[in-house]
Amino acid sequence: MHFLVTAGPTREPIDPVRFLSNRSSGKMGYALAEAALAAGHTVTLVSGPVALTAPEGLTFVPVETAQEMYDAVATRIHDAGVAIFCAAVADYRVASIAEEKIKKSADELTLRLVQNPDILGSARSVFGFGGLLVGFAAETNDLARHALDKLRRKKCDLIVANDVSRRDIAFDCDFNEVSLFFADGTREDLPFLTKHEIAAALIGRIVALAPQERQ
Ligand code: PMT
Repeated sequence: MHFLVTAGPTREPIDPVRFLSNRSSGKMGYALAEAALAAGHTVTLVSGPVALTAPEGLTFVPVETAQEMYDAVATRIHDAGVAIFCAAVADYRVASIAEEKIKKSADELTLRLVQNPDILGSARSVFGFGGLLVGFAAETNDLARHALDKLRRKKCDLIVANDVSRRDIAFDCDFNEVSLFFADGTREDLPFLTKHEIAAALIGRIVALAPQERQ
């Protein structure tokens, strides 16, 4: 099967030297891409800026901003039977990027932000993707309620939820502990594991969900 995986953060420029971003290291998404490759699948990895080296043997598409990630996914998702959205996409970008470095002058500086496109949310409704759709949910509270809301609203087959208020898992570390919420209403909690162990388990669950003829 062909997997499309998004990974890493996006960077939203403020001026030529500054940007808005988040703590995503790309480790979870890269582990998923590697696990899919190891299981014999074809992989396209669309990645925001990270300090990791792209695994050999996959199609690597580096991007910076949410809009670039959206465009990269829009043009490639139809080649895939499975799309996994692990990237921590910035929900907002600066309305007007300064052409020159913003000088320190007033005591306060206000940045006006506008919403970025929701890439996962566009998969079914805008791109018309008919394959297996897997989203992540990064939550600090009411994990199950928010994950189930994302599962339904974004028409996913599976949502992988992690608690990003914890310092020992999720953002920028080697471990994770995730809960899986499936479209049929079932839930599975995986224990505290390395991101590589989680990725191998997830690829197994996802392949089991895929119709036989696609595998
Ligand atoms: O990169 P690491 O350091 O290894 O950390 C891993 C991780 C914490 C980033 C990862 O496990 C994770 O939780 N990824 C999702 C992060 C996130 O932005 O979650 P969210 O709940 O805000 O978004 C929900 C889903 O919509 C996600 O699948 C996200 O990729 C997608 N999304 C969100 C906003 C947007 N504009 N476009 C999107 O596609």
